[in-house]
Amino acid sequence: MKAFLAAIALCVLAIGSEAKVSGSGTTTRYWDCCKPSCSWKENVATSTPVNSCSKDGTTKVDPSVTSGCDSDGTSYVCNNLQPWAVNDTLAYGYVAASFTGGVDNSKCCVCLKLTFTNALAGKTMIVQNVNTGGDLSSNHFDIQIPGGGVGIFTRGCSTQWNAPQSGWGQQYGGAFH
Ligand SMILES: *[C@@H]1O[C@H](CO)[C@@H](O)[C@H](O)[C@H]1NC(C)=O
Repeated sequence: MKAFLAAIALCVLAIGSEAKVSGSGTTTRYWDCCKPSCSWKENVATSTPVNSCSKDGTTKVDPSVTSGCDSDGTSYVCNNLQPWAVNDTLAYGYVAASFTGGVDNSKCCVCLKLTFTNALAGKTMIVQNVNTGGDLSSNHFDIQIPGGGVGIFTRGCSTQWNAPQSGWGQQYGGAFH
C-alpha cells in the first residue's frame, strides 16, 4: 500500500526540536509480539520508553526485561499497541518505521500522518513510531495489526500465545491474505 507521509512531528518530546518533513512511502502490516525497540531506555533519548508487557499482553514490565523474541526473553508488545478507527476516514495506530533504511533510534516516538493513496485513497492514519525496522526499506511504515504476520521474528508469538512458528496465516502479511 502506498502512503503519503504528510507530516512528521515529535509527539512526546518538546516541540520544535525536529523539523517537519514530508514525502511518500510504503506501508505494510505486522504483529510479531516482540518488545518494540523503542521500549528500551537506551533507544529513547529524552522521552519515556514505549510500554512493554509480560506474556499476558497487559501487565507492564520494566524496560530492562529482555524481548520475548530473544532466547529466554519474557517481555512482549502490549496488546493495546493496535490500531483503532475514529471513523471511516481517520484511524490511529503504531508502526515500525524505517526512514532511510537501517536502524534509526533517534526517530523513536515520533508521530506521523499517513495519507493513503490507491485503494485506500481518502483515508488517513496518525501513527506513533514505536519500533525501528532494520529489515524495512526507505520510508517504509510497518503498521502493527494483530494477525498481520510475524515477519522475521518467529519466536515472539509462539512463546507468548503458542502460535505456529511462522505465526498465524502467512509469515509476511498474516491472516489477511
Ligand atoms: C472523522 O473524524 C475526524 C476527527 O474528529 C473529523 O475531522 C472528520 O471529519 C471525520 N470524518 C468523517 C467522515 O466523519
